[in-house]
Amino acid sequence: MARVAQFVVSGLLAATVANGQSFDGTSRSEDAFSYVQPENTTILGPYGHSPAVLPSPNATGTGEWKEAYAKAQEFVAKLTIDEKADMVTGQPGPCVGNIVAIPRLGFPGLCLQDGPLAIRVADYASVFAAGVTVASTWDRDLLYERGYAMGQEFKAKGAHVALSPVAGPLGRSAYAGRNWEGFAADPYLTGVAMEKTIRGHQDAGVQATPKHFIGNEQETQRNPTYNPNGTLTDVIQEALSSNIDDRTMHELYLWPFANAVRAQAASFMCAYQRLNGSYACENSKALNGLLKEELGFQGYVMSDWGGTHSGVSSIEGGLDMNMPGGLGAYGKTPGVGSFFGKNVTYAVNNGTVDESRVDDMIIRIMTPYYWLGQDEDYPEVDPSSADLNTFSPRSTWIREFNLTGERSRDVRGDHAELIRKLAAEATVLLKNEKQALPLKAPKNIAIFGNDAGENTMGAVNEATFEFGNLAAGGGSGTGRFTYLVSPLEAIKTRAKEDDALVQYFLNNTQIATNNVTDLWVPATPDACLVFLKTWAEEGADREHLTVDYNGNEVVESVAKSCNNTIVITHSSGINVLPWANHPNVTAILAAHYPGQEAGNSIVDVLYGDVNPAGHLPYTIAKNATDYNAPPTTELSTDGTHDWQSWFDEKLEIDYRYFDAKNISVQYEFGFGLSYTTFSISDINAEQVAESIPSIPEDQPIQPGGNPALWETIYNVTVAVTNSGDVKGATVPQLYVTFPDSTPEGTPPKQLRGFEKVSLAPGESRTVGFELMRRDLSYWDIVSQKWLVPEGEFVLSVGFSSRDLKEVAKITPVSV
Ligand code: NOJ
Repeated sequence: MARVAQFVVSGLLAATVANGQSFDGTSRSEDAFSYVQPENTTILGPYGHSPAVLPSPNATGTGEWKEAYAKAQEFVAKLTIDEKADMVTGQPGPCVGNIVAIPRLGFPGLCLQDGPLAIRVADYASVFAAGVTVASTWDRDLLYERGYAMGQEFKAKGAHVALSPVAGPLGRSAYAGRNWEGFAADPYLTGVAMEKTIRGHQDAGVQATPKHFIGNEQETQRNPTYNPNGTLTDVIQEALSSNIDDRTMHELYLWPFANAVRAQAASFMCAYQRLNGSYACENSKALNGLLKEELGFQGYVMSDWGGTHSGVSSIEGGLDMNMPGGLGAYGKTPGVGSFFGKNVTYAVNNGTVDESRVDDMIIRIMTPYYWLGQDEDYPEVDPSSADLNTFSPRSTWIREFNLTGERSRDVRGDHAELIRKLAAEATVLLKNEKQALPLKAPKNIAIFGNDAGENTMGAVNEATFEFGNLAAGGGSGTGRFTYLVSPLEAIKTRAKEDDALVQYFLNNTQIATNNVTDLWVPATPDACLVFLKTWAEEGADREHLTVDYNGNEVVESVAKSCNNTIVITHSSGINVLPWANHPNVTAILAAHYPGQEAGNSIVDVLYGDVNPAGHLPYTIAKNATDYNAPPTTELSTDGTHDWQSWFDEKLEIDYRYFDAKNISVQYEFGFGLSYTTFSISDINAEQVAESIPSIPEDQPIQPGGNPALWETIYNVTVAVTNSGDVKGATVPQLYVTFPDSTPEGTPPKQLRGFEKVSLAPGESRTVGFELMRRDLSYWDIVSQKWLVPEGEFVLSVGFSSRDLKEVAKITPVSV
């Protein structure tokens, strides 16, 4: 009840604190609410509004961070107020984000670099597989290894902070432009991926930055529209507001970020858009309430670039670092104006902001710096990063940067091998008929599609590049390719072993409009490999869910004459595949964005050197119109606050929706074939906790929240057997169906366990899933707690969300 009282008090504060907290008053008919709020329990304010949660909680240096916290305290004690302002405000400089050095204290400053699949602004660095690709492996070890290898490269280039990984967007909408930067349209799988990636980054010595917190589920109107002739505060229309109810917030969007806090992520990046009416980077409910208080986050919150819309209210609302910052005289040039900078000094000097809050901001920034040992022998920023940085080129620098380190360092190590392996293991085999795959030393191979060959322009992909293999998407989440192995190059190399004829046709328009029998010689090829691509990028949502460049027509044209048409997609994620059931389309592989070894990894799968084990981290529907929750892309009104996105589908995104509405789909969440077959048997569920009360014990908050939520309360095991005749790996998945007593709107089943297992032919192994208290709980909006509902749970284990083989029933809460 203490928490209830606290929020009521916060509500009162909201009325009296003139801090600019945005309560924009947009209202909606009552039927938008799934619940009736009991009187005097306006804990979270109505859906679409955001109550103030003040003051911003101080870091306490709990657990492993204790020593580092003490060092950070000492550091802060030595700073002048101007230095304090510098510590919380970015400056134009060699990296995408820069905190300037304080030489008298031996502090070299901080270099922040994008992004989630590579250190972006760098040469001689690797481009790894994208988030969606690595999520398709469902492989905890590979997720960690990728995170670690990436971390090594950031560190070796002198970046202290990696602006990675992404859990927002989560994948509410199939069309969202940045889904591929994140992992899966499911909080559990994304949560595991976040945890593994963050631990990988940080074990390598670099700070991780889970982003974009929170509700960043579309690109359209993610930022305000400004008057082109006015100043930066001259807003015509505010950014979109993601309006999310409390239960949905906890069970979907906050869930993977809780894993991120638990993994001790150093920093969080708040999102561009508004959340329940108030900008995410000044939303005190999200930053102070959910993140710092409920989840016990001890690190710092940085703004997305230009996502800060106020000074004092952002600071009070929980923002600790303004990026990209600037000097503080608020102006129009990006990177120069800032609500922080000198304004922080003024605000402290005139008493508007308490200096202790600024101290806490810096303690939060410096604790992970010390914890990761970044104060000892950290590599200097590679000067080539400065040359490549188009975001803040040298001409914009106001402060001096010491760039005496070695230029153009090659930081790739042996990562190519891992990248190749990762992308091969991530490839999802969606269809394989007439034993089309693996290829059996074909003598005549025809390759089709503009995705197969070499890029014809530049090291960084652009939306307008018609020709060339698409191995990463666009925007800040992309990478600069030191090299890229195209599928065509790799197939040519491999086919030499069989002295095969390799002919290729890379112009989609010509393939689609010609009779392919006029193209190839001398007879129908043994295998027709069609490579298709689908672009997605930051700043824009996808306009359609089909493959790009007439890809559908290309498939139809090839399949009309080739009865062994094998389609490979390089895509940001969801594509509807209208030709999936075409009898001549014998195999389909979804390879997503594989990174620099694209060609080699697909050859490994095509020729069977790697047995595909990828599983879909989203659902492929039959029609694009089957998906719910499209982005909000058009407004018929022009009011300042009119961009509103109501997350009315609540928990029903992706398979949760298709299951709830009983819609048949092409390929369901979790689906993926192999060159062998598997079976599951002998499910067993054993209670581990002595007793399981519905309400968790209130333990002192640790990073990740109440530790009781992370305790294992059940162990579930199944036997998995490779029933085929080649070695292969599969991913048994555990889905939970909650009892009837759970509040309305609970999805029919939810992923709560998975484990990849590799098996020799005939081999059988026991696979275990640990169910934590959180896994069997729902978020109760009244008590503001995770509760295990009374009644019978159904635990189903299978190879996808719709291929469930074994069922166990448990009743954890005794009444
Ligand atoms: C904006 C993007 O939203 C964010 O993900 C990125 O890290 C920054 N720009 C810096 O490039």
